[in-house]
Amino acid sequence: MANMAVTVAGLELANPVMSASGTYGHGLEMRHFAAPASLGAWVSKTVTRKPRPGNPLPRIAETEAGFLNSIGLENRGIDSYLRDVLPDMAREHAVVITNIGGESVDDFAELAARLDGERACHALEVNLSCPNVQGGKLPFSTSPAMAESVIARVRAATKKPVFAKLSPNVSDIGEIARAVEAGGADGITAVNTLLGMRVDWKTRRPALNTIQGGYSGIGIKPIALRCAWSCARAVSIPVIGCGGIACAEDAFEFLVVGCRAVQFGTASFTDPGKIGRLAAEMSQLLDQHGIASVTDLIGTLRAPNVLAKTPGAPS
Ligand code: FUM
Repeated sequence: MANMAVTVAGLELANPVMSASGTYGHGLEMRHFAAPASLGAWVSKTVTRKPRPGNPLPRIAETEAGFLNSIGLENRGIDSYLRDVLPDMAREHAVVITNIGGESVDDFAELAARLDGERACHALEVNLSCPNVQGGKLPFSTSPAMAESVIARVRAATKKPVFAKLSPNVSDIGEIARAVEAGGADGITAVNTLLGMRVDWKTRRPALNTIQGGYSGIGIKPIALRCAWSCARAVSIPVIGCGGIACAEDAFEFLVVGCRAVQFGTASFTDPGKIGRLAAEMSQLLDQHGIASVTDLIGTLRAPNVLAKTPGAPS
């Protein structure tokens, strides 16, 4: 069997498959579908300083190739996460990455400090890019200076690996990637959802209460792949690919463009057990192609370096 182990920012993972934040609860809820330890890492739903009820319904709408969400970071807050979730996750012997979100730089720094001493939390993923709060303005992921300052404050507050989750809703994601690397990020998750909307033309009403929301699923894979590739070219820290990954072949595309791991999210809504089978399916596919280790695929894109020659080309 092909070797599936990868190291990402010092985390030794049994395989490169992670859950995408928000699509698998905090992990515990989903144990009957896939054992947490069968994944490379479990990424929690975003945890905030205070409990949040989330946005008013309706806040999920299906589309032709994925869905829109406008959950609004519903969660019970950091006190409940530390008391009710992490101790149970510790018993699962899984690698846990806690995703944190905030409305201010101080919020992010405080959350990082609270999690720093928690042994069951192995790393932080900083959600700079939720499109469903703050009026969809994405203040932390569209400005390089803001992105860098959030990550720098988180970096100062914790010794754990810090991953910055970026938004695809920018013109040059490489610029944001370089900013978070300068702020001290140990890695990047590329990417969060795309801003999108749906309307019922007969009633003239939007499908989501918030009108616009975050679009995820197989429809965004080409965009997410391009973003992940741009990030991998722009920085030397590891990139975790996320967006539209539904099978082993999808995951391999992200590894080839330079990602060291992948996150599986929206596809869980049609097949919740798939995430627990994905690493084995990837391993079998590697065997069929005579590839000894999943790391042999990372950053192996064979392409002419055309963009480097184009004045004004995106990074
Ligand atoms: O609205 C939400 O809870 C989504 C979060 C995100 O996309 O980061």
